[in-house]
Amino acid sequence: MTTAGINGIAGVDSLRSVLAALEKEGAAIGHFNVADVVLLKAVIAAATETKLPVLIGASEGEREFLGVRQLAALAKSVREETGWPVFLNADHTHSLQKALEAAKAGFHSVGVDFSALPIDQNVARTKETVQAIKAVNAAILAEGEVGDIGTGSEIHETAPSEVGKLTTPEEARQFVEATGVDILAPAVGNRHGMLKSMVQGETRKHLDIERIAQIKGVAGVFLTLHGGSGTEDDHFRKAIAAGVNIVHINTELRVAWRQSLAESLARDSNEVVPYKILRPVVESVKQVVSSRLRLFHGQLVSPEAVGSAA
Ligand code: G3H
Ligand code: ZN
Repeated sequence: MTTAGINGIAGVDSLRSVLAALEKEGAAIGHFNVADVVLLKAVIAAATETKLPVLIGASEGEREFLGVRQLAALAKSVREETGWPVFLNADHTHSLQKALEAAKAGFHSVGVDFSALPIDQNVARTKETVQAIKAVNAAILAEGEVGDIGTGSEIHETAPSEVGKLTTPEEARQFVEATGVDILAPAVGNRHGMLKSMVQGETRKHLDIERIAQIKGVAGVFLTLHGGSGTEDDHFRKAIAAGVNIVHINTELRVAWRQSLAESLARDSNEVVPYKILRPVVESVKQVVSSRLRLFHGQLVSPEAVGSAA
């Protein structure tokens, strides 16, 4: 999105309008998970530095740690102070009650996730949740998931022995029609977390671009790509061109957070001032977020920056 475009839509615009504007530009919004204020500061700093809108995600566990209403209040205060399009998503929400809690707190979207259930139950519970959160806030965007994209934004020792079930275009079409979701999260070769070899930059995730294009052709809604960490840059570009509107990144941030925190603590064992220890951590995570945001907006990124991100 161009700076002019951002200034035009300003911070008060809806997530829906931002996604639609980005789609026209062949770009996607970056979705980055936060579990503490260090990560939150890093994501906001990256968004304002790159002058790009951003979607901040928090899973049930991340929300519990930060506080649902506290996170919403922090994001709202940033929007009010800077006018920047900073949006909030209640990522991987597995119950009606948690979805309602996030909707009432002011989240802009809810990732309703009953994908572990058999498809008929996934459809029924997603539909019920979509209706309930839209009754709280008619403008809220509801996401639903179909297919197996694994669990855990963590470092995995080995790849799963079986390939997870990928989403078929027909399944996607029926799911969207039956549930009324605004955003669909399909399984298209993406998977949560990173293998050790990905953290070391030796291997990368690859996506089924043709499947993404087919799903986009029949689903008629925004598409979100989960499990973005460690994905080949060119696959991101092609996936966005094929119809992906939102890209989720979490493990890459967690890796940068942990590595830079360890380095910062090791620098001076007598240092006890939290903001002196944590400032380099914010900077390090911010670099990962900035390079990913630029990539999702078709801006040039140096391979070194992305390599160090992984
Ligand atoms: O919902 C969060 C994501 O899908 C992140 O996945 O940890 O593989 O980047 P990731
Ligand atoms: Zn995810």
